[in-house]
Amino acid sequence: MFATLDDLHESEADALSAVWGRLRVFLEVYAEAEERLFYPELLRLGTGAGSKDSPEAETDDAIHDHNEIRDAIGLVDAEEVGTGSWWKAVAKVREANSDHMGEEERESLADFRCHADLDLRHSFGLSFVVFEAQHARCERSGHRPVPVHRAPGRSSDVRSGC
Ligand SMILES: [Fe+2]
Repeated sequence: MFATLDDLHESEADALSAVWGRLRVFLEVYAEAEERLFYPELLRLGTGAGSKDSPEAETDDAIHDHNEIRDAIGLVDAEEVGTGSWWKAVAKVREANSDHMGEEERESLADFRCHADLDLRHSFGLSFVVFEAQHARCERSGHRPVPVHRAPGRSSDVRSGC
């Protein structure tokens, strides 16, 4: 959807606002789904990957990154749609999201793939899609977990969002 915004660069504010609104919800719901569904499983099964030596380190880093993305989203919402400062704020969200996704792919997702069998991965994938569908119209939840180390096998303390 960032690419769609690129193509809409000269468009009216209502078009930009509509696409940004959908993208914002997607980013927030995706992060929340990971925190509720994926990272508790990673804490149970993972051993660490890439630069992280444990699933706790992977989880804490992901929550930190997700909160950076949430903060950047808040800065976009504070700007007038379509202005130069709005586009700069959107670019910051894109940068934070791209950095996070690359790291997550190399580390926590790779760790999970190495330790979860195909049945679990399939079941997990379906749960993820259902969560996203259930929250697709969610307004900003204010969900903001704090990175903490947890013992493997314990569920996270993620609070209710939207
Ligand atoms: Fe993530």
